[in-house]
Amino acid sequence: MTDKKYDFGLVGLGVMGRNFILNVADNGFSAFGNDLDEEKVNALIDEGGDTRRVNADVDAAVFVEALSKPRKIMLLVPAGKIVDAVIEKLLPMLDKGDIIIDGGNSFYSDTDRREAYLKEKGVNFFGAGVSGGAKGARKGPSIMPGGNREAYQHVKPIFEAVAAKYEGEPCVAYLGPKSAGNYVKMVHNGIEYGLMQLTSEIYDLLKKAVGLSNEELHKIYSEWNNGRLQSFLVEITSEIFAQKDELTDGDLVDVILDKAKQKGTGKWTSQNAMDLGIPVPTIDIAVSMRQISALRDERIKADHLYKKPVLEAVNKEALIEKAEKALYFAFIMAYAQGMHQLADASAAYGYELNLGEIAKIWRAGCIIRAALLADITKAYQEEPELQNLLLSNAFVPKVRSTVDAARELVSYGATHGIPLPGLSNALTYFDAYTSQRLPLNLIQAQRDYFGSHTYERLDREGTFHTEWEK
Ligand code: 6PG
Repeated sequence: MTDKKYDFGLVGLGVMGRNFILNVADNGFSAFGNDLDEEKVNALIDEGGDTRRVNADVDAAVFVEALSKPRKIMLLVPAGKIVDAVIEKLLPMLDKGDIIIDGGNSFYSDTDRREAYLKEKGVNFFGAGVSGGAKGARKGPSIMPGGNREAYQHVKPIFEAVAAKYEGEPCVAYLGPKSAGNYVKMVHNGIEYGLMQLTSEIYDLLKKAVGLSNEELHKIYSEWNNGRLQSFLVEITSEIFAQKDELTDGDLVDVILDKAKQKGTGKWTSQNAMDLGIPVPTIDIAVSMRQISALRDERIKADHLYKKPVLEAVNKEALIEKAEKALYFAFIMAYAQGMHQLADASAAYGYELNLGEIAKIWRAGCIIRAALLADITKAYQEEPELQNLLLSNAFVPKVRSTVDAARELVSYGATHGIPLPGLSNALTYFDAYTSQRLPLNLIQAQRDYFGSHTYERLDREGTFHTEWEK
């Protein structure tokens, strides 16, 4: 130990924590880690090279003592009870004005509770979503912090240095009070679920309808990644198709079990959207598809019970071209829904979110980074009060020129028994959102018929009830 105090502390030296702390140190801030696991502590010290730059200890008291004040302590530990346990352990050793930053995928209301509790003790608490996986943590993640604005000034230089850069601009910004940061990260993950579902069903379609090989899929997804679909998820998808299996002679993607797991952030996005009354069907169906995927045994039984429609020959090149357009269309719908959720949640929870700023910090570093986010940033910068991307003048031509391809593919999928739930839900969302008149007048009539729930009218103000039964 030296007497020198460290600029930044980090609890939880798993892959994310270790990478994040090394990133902090690479950017000129000395950092001190803490973990109960001695092996992890020693591994970090070894990798850090110089203990004046990166140090660590298993003892929380040594850790707290090593940090300069106000202490800036980031937690990269699993969301849930462990976060509370670490806070309780650190709290008696902290001073007023110290800062704890939870960098995990914590549920936003847990963050609100922790923030209020720590505020009473004079400690500032931040919920900061960190996106980009292990590589992002090491080389530059997108960081979504929320909490006390003044206290953020202490953290800002470190976060701006370690965050990913898009054309020189750091992919981090103070997002708002309380749990704003965790909430934004939750919706980021909801959009992530939507984009992943869409890329996977387009793969299914191309494979089933025109029998594309993994090699062809690799080429197509990488070509798409050089165009307007450029995004981290399309890029890694192209690489996945090229990955050989080490255990067999085949391609790895073909031997991976088709049951998708989930840790809950997509589901939380959907649940909260339902609570707030915001339609996010592309995200909802992405969650449901993971659930359907889990029913593999039942799916296998059912597969034998029902005949699949015969696949008609279809022009390969034309289908690939339509797939690119449809995927672009559906990506727009997924972002539109997520941004809409953020706008309404901001009003409901007092987050005062700046949607242009959020899109801006998603342009690099995070899992949903995509060329589209530069356009989304511009759209919200030009019209900060934009209710929905579909109302943005910049997006109208993008959607107009791709929606027909989505229609054709949805219709092809429906006719031929290829499930395209993300795409069809995106299309339905679009068709419903752009319909001046929906048949929900009939639902109002039904409600009033059987429950006297009343209805409003198009032609006059007021609330009405009819005695329907003659
Ligand atoms: C990120 C990811 C990250 C994690 C997801 C996985 O932004 O870096 O979103 O947070 O990979 O939470 O979520 P599921 O396990 O639910 O798919």
